[in-house]
Amino acid sequence: MSEPLTAPKLTMTDGHAIPLLGLGTWPMRDAEARRAVREALNNGYRLIDTAEAYENEEAVGEGIRTSRVPRDQVFLTTKFNREWHSRAGVRQACEASLRRLKMEYIDLYLIHWPNPKQDRYVEAFEGMMELIEAGLIRSAGVSNFKPAHLQRLFAAGFFPQLNQIQLDPFRPRLEDVAFHRQHGIVVETWSPLDRDGSLLKEPVVLSLARELNKTPGQVVLRWHVQKGYVTVPKSANPQRQSENLHLFDFVLSPEQVAQLDGLARTDAEIVDSDVFGH
Ligand SMILES: NC(=O)c1ccc[n+]([C@@H]2O[C@H](COP(=O)([O-])OP(=O)(O)OC[C@H]3O[C@@H](n4cnc5c(N)ncnc54)[C@H](OP(=O)(O)O)[C@@H]3O)[C@@H](O)[C@H]2O)c1
Repeated sequence: MSEPLTAPKLTMTDGHAIPLLGLGTWPMRDAEARRAVREALNNGYRLIDTAEAYENEEAVGEGIRTSRVPRDQVFLTTKFNREWHSRAGVRQACEASLRRLKMEYIDLYLIHWPNPKQDRYVEAFEGMMELIEAGLIRSAGVSNFKPAHLQRLFAAGFFPQLNQIQLDPFRPRLEDVAFHRQHGIVVETWSPLDRDGSLLKEPVVLSLARELNKTPGQVVLRWHVQKGYVTVPKSANPQRQSENLHLFDFVLSPEQVAQLDGLARTDAEIVDSDVFGH
């Protein structure tokens, strides 16, 4: 059997390499999550994104173990909730995730939301440094952090490798992206297809899809990877999973990227991580 296509990787500042394209697993659970993860890996995916909050870590772990891909070729991300924002708590959370996943280590561990009102994310990050030393995780990052939250980590001497944030052509978050670039933090995008489907019906996206003989999803996901973002679209459907991975045999011209950049909306809602979090 020929080797499936896999996504190129991006090296983070700690030297670990993360694939540019992975599978998001929320809101899949149980048999659906198991199957989606196994099929995705067998068909070339090498990055899987889960979280304690998704309540699917057991299924994701089983999907990985029952795939044809050895563990050391899979880049596995999981995240922990706010109740574990303490040095000892992070260790407990990690050990519990590893038990559910039936894995010995996590490639990338993320603070899921900063929860600034609770104000313990700096301590949580310190806890992750101990997990790296203990060999339970390889890299430490964050999710939904604003530049002000990142500044607090820097001031305490901590440096996340990556920040997973809500970003798509409607919400390009240019100032946030510039801040991450300035500090060498990888941007990973969640809900890259805008989840509800309206982005994929935009006339600009449809006309580029026709022009390039690609699907609307591929056009949007190519925009993400061409910007240098890691992205984790979710699909439970094998056809769409495959479509979403096949982004590396075409290029958007600068004019085509500019057309997609033109979709930016000032009124697109971004979940406010000063207010929401779990
Ligand atoms: N860090 C955070 O706080 C956070 C928050 C939200 C999400 N996430 C992560 O990000 C991942 C992705 O985000 P998301 O699931 O919210 O949104 P998304 O990936 O932008 O969109 C998923 C939706 O698009 C459909 N879809 C997938 N590929 C498609 C294609 N090529 N053409 C048309 N439709 C397509 C999927 O349906 P089918 O399954 O039927 O294909 C699903 O309904 C999540 O699964 C999760 O891992 C993280």
